Amino acid sequence: GASNGRRSSRRRPRRVLMFPLPFQGHINPMLQLGDVLHARGLAVTVLHTRLNALDAARRHPEFQFVPVLDGVPAHVAASGNVIDIIEAMNAAMEADGAAALRAVLESVVADEARPPAACIIFDANLLAVPRAAEAVGLRTLVLRTASAACLGCFLAYPMLHQKGYLPPQESKLYMPVKELPPLRVRDLFYSSWSNHKKMRELLARANEAMKNSSGLVINTLDALEKAELNRLCEELHIPVVLAPGPLHKLSSKCTRSSTPDQDYSCIEWLDKQPSESVLYVSFGSLASLDAKDFLEVAWGLANSGHPFLWVVRADSVRGFLDGPDIPNGFEAAVRGRGKVIRWAPQQEVLAHPAVGGFWTHSGWNSTLESISDGVPMICRPQFADQMMNTRYVVNTWGVGLELEGELERGKIEKAVRKLMKDRQGEEMRERAKELKKNVADCLKAGGTSQVAIDKLVDYILSM
Ligand code: UDX
Repeated sequence: GASNGRRSSRRRPRRVLMFPLPFQGHINPMLQLGDVLHARGLAVTVLHTRLNALDAARRHPEFQFVPVLDGVPAHVAASGNVIDIIEAMNAAMEADGAAALRAVLESVVADEARPPAACIIFDANLLAVPRAAEAVGLRTLVLRTASAACLGCFLAYPMLHQKGYLPPQESKLYMPVKELPPLRVRDLFYSSWSNHKKMRELLARANEAMKNSSGLVINTLDALEKAELNRLCEELHIPVVLAPGPLHKLSSKCTRSSTPDQDYSCIEWLDKQPSESVLYVSFGSLASLDAKDFLEVAWGLANSGHPFLWVVRADSVRGFLDGPDIPNGFEAAVRGRGKVIRWAPQQEVLAHPAVGGFWTHSGWNSTLESISDGVPMICRPQFADQMMNTRYVVNTWGVGLELEGELERGKIEKAVRKLMKDRQGEEMRERAKELKKNVADCLKAGGTSQVAIDKLVDYILSM
């Protein structure tokens, strides 16, 4: 009967194709989802571009990796402008009715040595995918690597324009957007775009791809965004909307970052520090500081008196290609108490008992990672969804404070003390521990994130 049919379809091995947007913050969650699905018996084929080519192939011998030509000219790739890069990539991949991508998909799907392909899970910014997938008869699922609130905000852009919130006016930046609490006009992503028209087009098409897909997976969870998720379900009218986050905690392999080399010496260093004493400082994979701000951060950290672990990427200070000059006297001032590295194994760092706080740029992955390990945050958002993530961290979840305005060493010193030690910060630290428990509950057997994965696997097997 029906149950037998179901069991035999369960046993029939299936394969998922995955195509992440080639940036760190997007690649990691996609591969983590791949790990989770692979652990549930699905085969995984990852499409990847030459841009930010994955060196993950080495760490994922169980996945198949297939290159796709991205067509991004070298000067655009070197510009570091994410929107321009995505635009160039889409233009190249969409050329000739997405012929090149279609050919890749055709050969991947035709590969009889591997289990039959059930669907492709892709990043909605890759606009050529829906058409190419349709041509080869593949169903599409979209993975969103930012928050549900962020997606809700994208869907609301027409309304936000209609009601006059957007384009933002200088005098209204701090006005609450009552349709999207707790956001204010300033938090709407929009203010950080250099090219509004390009962005609006990209978003409109990405939204359309999502609405025409067979389902949506968002790297978030009920414990953080239940209301936002409910709103999305009501709005989207697609077969499934699933929130199995935080994916890095479900993935047994702990998919480490896919590009730069991690400096593991910092873990040994952390082993020697007292419990919850260390402030971890990192601004993600893209954000940068100017040289003056870098100095203020350095002396703010030094003067705070707290131990700190600070990630300074080679390209993290504008005007320096191979790392900034460390200020005179800084090393002596922080000897034994401060450690500066190029790139951290961040998930391990945040899970380390010595870490008691995180100064972050509020990228979504960093925010999720910090919350999952109960680490309260100092938020210093710069662009994209970082402002809205900060608003949720501060206002909705109560697990952090925002460092606003000009960077100044005295202000930094005070913020660090408040976060790590002062009575004023106690509630925030307690809330962070509570929220960690709520996240852990979602990840347990029967928890909402596990149930979301069960549903996803069943759904894929039914295709
Ligand atoms: C970008 C955008 O800036 C952000 O707004 C959006 O939400 C996601 O894409 P990114 O700068 O990559 O974000 O930050 P984030 O989303 O926080 O991801 C950074 C990833 O790199 C995290 O998974 C983090 O664990 C990892 N990381 C960071 C390291 O492994 N080591 C480090 O030293 C720093």
